Amino acid sequence: WPRTSTRTEGALTIGGVDVRDLARDFGTPLYVIDEDDVRSRMRDYAAAFAGSDVHYAGKAFLCKEVVRWLQDEGLGLDVASGGELAVALSVGFPPERITVHGNNKSVAELARALEAGVGHIVVDSFEEIARLGYLAQETGRRPKVMIRVTTGVEAHTHEFIATAHDDQKFGLSLGHGAAAEAVRRVLALPQLELVGLHSHIGSQIVDTAGFEVAARRLATLLVQIKDEHGVVLPELDLGGGYGIAYVEGDEAPDIKELADGLREIVTKVCVDAGLPVPRLTVEPGRTIVGPGGITLYEVGTVKDVEGLRTYVSVDGGMSDNVRTALYGAEYTTVLASRESDAEPMLSRLVGKHCESGDIVVRDCYYPADLAPGDLVAVSSTGAYCRSLASNYNYLPKPAVVAVADGKARVIVRGETEDDLLRGQL
Ligand code: LLP
Repeated sequence: WPRTSTRTEGALTIGGVDVRDLARDFGTPLYVIDEDDVRSRMRDYAAAFAGSDVHYAGKAFLCKEVVRWLQDEGLGLDVASGGELAVALSVGFPPERITVHGNNKSVAELARALEAGVGHIVVDSFEEIARLGYLAQETGRRPKVMIRVTTGVEAHTHEFIATAHDDQKFGLSLGHGAAAEAVRRVLALPQLELVGLHSHIGSQIVDTAGFEVAARRLATLLVQIKDEHGVVLPELDLGGGYGIAYVEGDEAPDIKELADGLREIVTKVCVDAGLPVPRLTVEPGRTIVGPGGITLYEVGTVKDVEGLRTYVSVDGGMSDNVRTALYGAEYTTVLASRESDAEPMLSRLVGKHCESGDIVVRDCYYPADLAPGDLVAVSSTGAYCRSLASNYNYLPKPAVVAVADGKARVIVRGETEDDLLRGQL
């Protein structure tokens, strides 16, 4: 739950705001984000990784206001599309603090990134190296380039969000020599400035061993590049992917320990080989915005399926949180608008969409007197819920409201029916 969440008069409050007031003023479903929580996590990262760069991974949740928070707190930003870049630039985020990612950036996206003067472009394929080389030549810009290396680490997470084993679409394989070939190709293009290597092994990873193996392999590759080409690359980007606790008993890595461990590994490999220690970057997304966000729903029906469980249907579902359907994600949920002494009943929190996979929380307990009109809250929905939201069944995407110091304000307006019909001929 967000760092400022507590109960007053039985109801959940976040940032000093009662969820009943939020529901009344802004409607449900509603994404609520605790500004102090998110900002404090940004600061915690900056402190743990002092001397390194922390680039928030915008895919987790990006909007103008979050970009302003990043700017205030001195973080950088990763974008993975022209659209994400546009959000950042729209509020004057310094382009030199932006890294551009993607396994299939379009020519237009690359050209826009060059024109904006972004800090880094992470190349992900041989075609892209050639494309970027051509565009750099045409425009006379010399971008700082990193190569995304597939380190061969088996990250222990859901298949869809593991990204460092060889049989997936991202990066250039270390084991199969593609990474070394990419280094040769980028170095052969003087209009590109090769500054470093990048690795991202996956997401929602709680065992830090994989990050350490990847860091060691990247640092070792730096040494090999020095030996083969006589070039010392000054930067390593170790990606993001650190897990958070979604349900009781979940473990989450300690950020400070992680930072110290990664730094130590890279330093040792480089110092032993007589290389200067590269500047490190990390790209956390979920750990920054995840815990500070909740989703608030209103209960519509409470259906007891005899002998099995109670199905609690709310006014949103897989359109505002697809993670359960997509990754088998687990969440914690509570009755938020009041307290109850009633017996716990085995429940399943489901949405209003036309499929039975429309589940928000597979197994949970609500008090047996749960009734239509009650508000329920789902915790840790700040990351990859709004950003993965859809309009399935023509549901408008809910608003995002930031709460702090007893005040609430909309930072992303909820969609209306007009929004849904716009653009249709
Ligand atoms: N850097 C790169 C290059 C990435 O691809 C990602 C996430 C991150 C950083 C940030 O990872 P984080 O710290 O947030 O784990 N939709 C999935 C997660 C997809 C992650 C994609 N890449 C989910 O809801 O679990």
